[in-house]
Amino acid sequence: MILHCFIIISAAALLCDGQIAEYLFPELTQATRGVVDELTKTPLVSRGSQSSGDLLSAGVRVLTLLPEAATRALGVGTQLPGLLPDSHTNIFGALDNFLPDYDAGLGNEDATLDIRDIVRKYGYTLEEHEVVTEDDYILSVFRIPSNGSAVFLMHGLLGSADDYVVAGPENGLAYLLADEGYDVWMGNARGTKHSRRHVHLKPSEAKFWDFSWHEIGTLDLPAMIDSVLEETTAKSLKYIGHSQGTTTFFVLTSVRPEYNEKVSLMVALSPVAFMTNVRSPVVRLLAAGTPFIHGFLKAIGVYEFLPDSSLMRTLKLLMCGAGVVSDIMCSNIMFMMAGVGYAQFNFTNLPVLMGHTPAGASAKQVAHYGQGVLTGEFRHFDYGTAGNLERYGTETPPSYALENIVAPISLFYSDADWLAHPKDVDKLYNNLDSAIDIHKIPYQQFNHLDFLWAKDFKVLVYKRLRKLLTFF
Ligand SMILES: *[C@@H]1O[C@H](CO)[C@@H](O)[C@H](O)[C@H]1NC(C)=O
Ligand SMILES: *[C@@H]1O[C@H](CO)[C@@H](O)[C@H](O)[C@H]1NC(C)=O
Repeated sequence: MILHCFIIISAAALLCDGQIAEYLFPELTQATRGVVDELTKTPLVSRGSQSSGDLLSAGVRVLTLLPEAATRALGVGTQLPGLLPDSHTNIFGALDNFLPDYDAGLGNEDATLDIRDIVRKYGYTLEEHEVVTEDDYILSVFRIPSNGSAVFLMHGLLGSADDYVVAGPENGLAYLLADEGYDVWMGNARGTKHSRRHVHLKPSEAKFWDFSWHEIGTLDLPAMIDSVLEETTAKSLKYIGHSQGTTTFFVLTSVRPEYNEKVSLMVALSPVAFMTNVRSPVVRLLAAGTPFIHGFLKAIGVYEFLPDSSLMRTLKLLMCGAGVVSDIMCSNIMFMMAGVGYAQFNFTNLPVLMGHTPAGASAKQVAHYGQGVLTGEFRHFDYGTAGNLERYGTETPPSYALENIVAPISLFYSDADWLAHPKDVDKLYNNLDSAIDIHKIPYQQFNHLDFLWAKDFKVLVYKRLRKLLTFF
């Protein structure tokens, strides 16, 4: 992993600072020089109006011109721990055995039904609440009402409230909590399919997409949390976040510490803050493209993250071989970024998951994560030296002040998670004074998306989660 990291970082350092990487990693510069030559030669550098999807895909395409460096950066050929029984094959190739399960799930109407219809179909009441943020985004918050205490669920990158119901009534976290008597609220970040509205901007305007998870944490979460507390007349709620849903919580409670007391317990499923050890090849490749976009396009991130077909083709070429399941998995950017293991994945339910993700995100969210991978820091968005001086008064962006977080936090993580690596989670845990519990899922193959949809979610996650909720 260290090696992958060096390759990506040295490519980035060459882009930013010319000679530094050459000095530090002479043996790697030959490989990375090819990348840089291509980047500076490529005509799109001089074009001003590229979509970020084009730029990302160009960055990835350029990296793929160097088969060896790219292969090593991707980790193909080396082991991707806990993912597949046989890592010599391509990542998704070995999943083809599960095709009959997938076929059995085709025709499940939940794939095309809206979340509102699905929840009601299974006999639950669903309310929809509209919340307007300080900067005028209009968000939808879904609720399965009850007189019990309020639990607020916050989804991850490219996800939405749908994430908590698409596993079906037996396994979906929203239903499990509702059955337990909780008042279940499900947030939807700006830019997701349920929250693509603004008082005066349209999603077709670049300005609409000028946000990262910083704004989701500092503006969307306060608006949604306040709305829940107002509606329920409670003083606090329980917060459960997955992935970016944990990032945004850490942003909120460090930047606006007054929100700590509105949360009696925070449960972090696959917590993402420090990203040094991220294993996802796609995320590492996109991260490598971050400084590239940064250097040449001032308007970074003011667009929706819509991976275009050339990006998807390139990634597919690198990660997925032939085969029908590969075709299916590799057509969905969320699966490609998070990775999919076979052990806990319900392939019969795959058509439903495909019908509900990806739910939308901005390119700037992806770029902000990319910066975290490259720097190893959990900090505000990097606008470049001039931009940082203007915004923050410092040349580099400030780190999020984790010492401000005092709400009780319980962390759940796993060994095979492509995004939340145990080492990064450990670092986070050591930086959170109010962490009351850290729990590794006792199942080696458990991965990022299993925290939402594992076949044994009830035993492996919910059992402990349920107990925690009763204590706070
Ligand atoms: C919630 O309502 C149910 C029936 O409507 C009632 O039996 C229960 O005691 C109530 N619980 C609380 C905490 O008020
Ligand atoms: C897998 O998904 C199918 C279809 O949604 C569902 O009927 C089944 O109960 C799920 N299996 C498990 C173990 O969750």
